[in-house]
Amino acid sequence: MAVISTLVASLPSLSNLVIYTFLAFGVYVILNILNQLFGPKDAKAPPVVFSWIPFMGNAIQFGMNPIKFLQDCQKMYGDVFTFYMVGKKVTVLLGADGNQFVFNSKQNVSSAAEAYNDMTKYVFGREVVYDAPHSVFLEQKRFIKAGLNSDCFREHVPMIVDEVTDFFKDFKKPSGTFDAYHTFGSLIICTASRCLMGKEIRANLDKNVAQLYYDLDQGFQPINFIFPNLPLPSYRKRDAACKKMAEIYSSIIRRRREENDTSNSDLLQALIDANYKDGSDLPDHHIAGMMIAVLFGGQHTSATTSAWTLLELAARPDLIRALREEQIEKLGSLKTDLTFENVKELSLLENCVRETLRLHPPIFQMMRKVIADDGVTFEKTGHQIPKGNFLCAVPGVTQVDETYFKEPLKYNPMRWVDLDDPVHSMEAGDDANVDYGFGVAGISSKSPFLPFGAGRHRCIGEQFGYLQIKTIIATMIRLFDIELEEGKGVPKSDYTSMVVVPEKPANIKYTWRE
Ligand code: HEM
Repeated sequence: MAVISTLVASLPSLSNLVIYTFLAFGVYVILNILNQLFGPKDAKAPPVVFSWIPFMGNAIQFGMNPIKFLQDCQKMYGDVFTFYMVGKKVTVLLGADGNQFVFNSKQNVSSAAEAYNDMTKYVFGREVVYDAPHSVFLEQKRFIKAGLNSDCFREHVPMIVDEVTDFFKDFKKPSGTFDAYHTFGSLIICTASRCLMGKEIRANLDKNVAQLYYDLDQGFQPINFIFPNLPLPSYRKRDAACKKMAEIYSSIIRRRREENDTSNSDLLQALIDANYKDGSDLPDHHIAGMMIAVLFGGQHTSATTSAWTLLELAARPDLIRALREEQIEKLGSLKTDLTFENVKELSLLENCVRETLRLHPPIFQMMRKVIADDGVTFEKTGHQIPKGNFLCAVPGVTQVDETYFKEPLKYNPMRWVDLDDPVHSMEAGDDANVDYGFGVAGISSKSPFLPFGAGRHRCIGEQFGYLQIKTIIATMIRLFDIELEEGKGVPKSDYTSMVVVPEKPANIKYTWRE
């Protein structure tokens, strides 16, 4: 009884507490608005985007449609502005000069590791990628790049064709529909595992490995970027999966070493055979971490690019016809075996994938964190960006900017051979030939088209990515006629996962060809 009466007595004070909390929050919101409107402003700092809710800032607008949000901000504030996102200060630098500034920033000025490692270390494991000293990470990138070479690609193409053919054997009906992103997600995990992860991992894909991938993937979501570690089951499963994957890789590495099995053309073998500059072998947990990082670098990016490409093609029967004609013209027939050499010849197909990457870049923005005590100055506008801010380059905005592309919202693979398109008259920077420690970057960071990033963090999976996607699409248009469902267009973008995927429903109608 005494407990009940104490509880009853405390009720008014509890409701008062709620009321006071609301009032305090209301005052905080109003002060925040007044401060934004009338508070002192640092003339040298980039303009700050207005937001109604303190701490959350513009997270909701950014999360729902970041490209529109950033384009709207660009109209109001120009190419450089700062917005708040769940307590983080993000300075966006748009345009080709913005790209160049962010991607070319010196390692002691801004850092990708500081931006990403809080999240990635739990998925990839320790001492690799952003959890390694930068110079070691560059060595690790060099090993991976060296393992992705023409000799391996030559073996990969028939493997990919084999996986695609095998995968679609389950499509028993003469025609039907499939969800594009889900289907390519399942297919790419088979092709990438077979080519990169090794036959042992591929063989276990239908068993425990798929569940481990899934658990790791649940730890690689936007929420993990904001809250890297919470006492929740998904976080615990992520940690357990990371440990288990490392054990699986260790046992494969041990077996290959003990049996002196060097018959494998996969990336795993390239890493087993590599040595750090000081002559030491790569420890097993480094190899495992790099393999997981590669899987995460390539899986969703390639799955969504394949899905978008097929969706765009399904809306364009003329392009599918042209792609088949290209195969007949360059390969002799639609029955000629695909090889590394002849897939390279398929330039229209390459331009279709390139155009997909322009219009639907899986990673449309890239972040760095300012670490220099004095901050950093964007020379072009004189803006000073303080230590602790995130720098954000957004190729996803430059790639649909009419300054750089004619009719930018149109899917037009021919623009890549149409010299009238402004992208061909862009003045490139001279940093394309810089070698940061893993081979030359290959593209100027000033380019408006950067779906694989630029500079020291540039993607090293680009060649494999193109090869894999081209081989998959080339095989699929041999197997199927494809179209969109009656009355449906190419879906809108869904920005709620780590890569930009087609909004559901994103179905493709297939009919088996003879
Ligand atoms: C880096 C995109 C496929 C491995 C990157 C970056 C982008 C990107 C935008 C730069 C990230 C940044 O600057 O913050 C893509 C796309 C792909 C793809 C669009 C496919 C269509 C792959 C594949 C692999 C891979 C297949 C592995 C075989 C990596 C690695 C990095 C990277 C290791 C370096 C990260 C760093 O240095 O910080 N990728 N990628 N990617 N990617 Fe890819």
